[in-house]
Amino acid sequence: MFPERRMRRARSRNIQPLLREISLTKHDLIAPLFVDESLTAPHPISAMPGQSRFPVNGIADEAERLWRRGIHAVLLFGIPKTKDPEGSCAFDPEGVVQQAVRKIKERVPEIVVITDVCACEYTSHGHCGIIGEARCGTDLLNDRSLELMNKIALSHAESGADIVAPSSMLDGVVGSIRSALDRSGFVEVMIMAYSTKFCSALYGPFREAADSGFSFGDRSTYQIDPANRREAFLESRLDMDEGADILMVKPAGFYLDILSEVATLGLPVAAYQVSGEYSMIKAAAGRGWLKERATVLESLISIKRAGAEMIITYFASDVAGWLDEEL
Ligand code: PBG
Ligand code: ZN
Repeated sequence: MFPERRMRRARSRNIQPLLREISLTKHDLIAPLFVDESLTAPHPISAMPGQSRFPVNGIADEAERLWRRGIHAVLLFGIPKTKDPEGSCAFDPEGVVQQAVRKIKERVPEIVVITDVCACEYTSHGHCGIIGEARCGTDLLNDRSLELMNKIALSHAESGADIVAPSSMLDGVVGSIRSALDRSGFVEVMIMAYSTKFCSALYGPFREAADSGFSFGDRSTYQIDPANRREAFLESRLDMDEGADILMVKPAGFYLDILSEVATLGLPVAAYQVSGEYSMIKAAAGRGWLKERATVLESLISIKRAGAEMIITYFASDVAGWLDEEL
């Protein structure tokens, strides 16, 4: 008798929803937000159609709009008015992110506020910490930059951030921030570690969005080589051992194998669908080459299937609307 195992029995339209293994909900999504200290009105980001930078005074409105759509977590990036080699505006209590966190928390106290802890938007050279003479010429100084990261994380916690997300890829940054937070009594502030952040071309549009392009070199001496799976897993394990509460894999779509491996560590896993992943879909959809909604939903369900509990995505607000329509 052929065939005995008829897989198509499971694919009739009314049975399919019953058998679906993975689903996507609004609770899975985190919306990145760019706050620009120099703006008085939202400013569109040309490389990311549909995304804008917001002024400090408009950020609470945007957070409230997301909240009402059912997006209950945001990830903040700041663009300061001035930059210097030490990135000192990054830990200013009156800095752009610090003000934004307070404004958001005042308006929507229950929204989960996550802050990106890094220096590249605040340094004049655009690198993720302090630069100096290192083994192979001018480079990011690891241990000297840790103190800067501690100060940034503390200032975010003091402003009311629920979760800090160190993205610099410095060695020891998770442990360093954990003890700084604990020493100051912020034992409840969580750490979402950008634990496997690859040195990816997909961050291109973000550098326009966050004005974080670098003036020399690249980030390959601190971000992971896309060819290295074992190294990525080890990075995540080290971040877990240093006290990370959530592990992040970034970018998401090209790195699903890494995602599924990192998920075996046992900590909650976040995936960051980065600017380039967003812009690729937008560009193709804009030309009528791909159906945007179907492509986006497929990309997100694949990221969840690979093992992510939560997804940072610039599509968060749109997806919330689409999920409402499906009910
Ligand atoms: C900064 C940072 C970057 C992104 C998040 N935090 C850029 C980079 O490392 O160059 C990329 C996010 C995106 O592309 O959406 N450390
Ligand atoms: Zn950085």
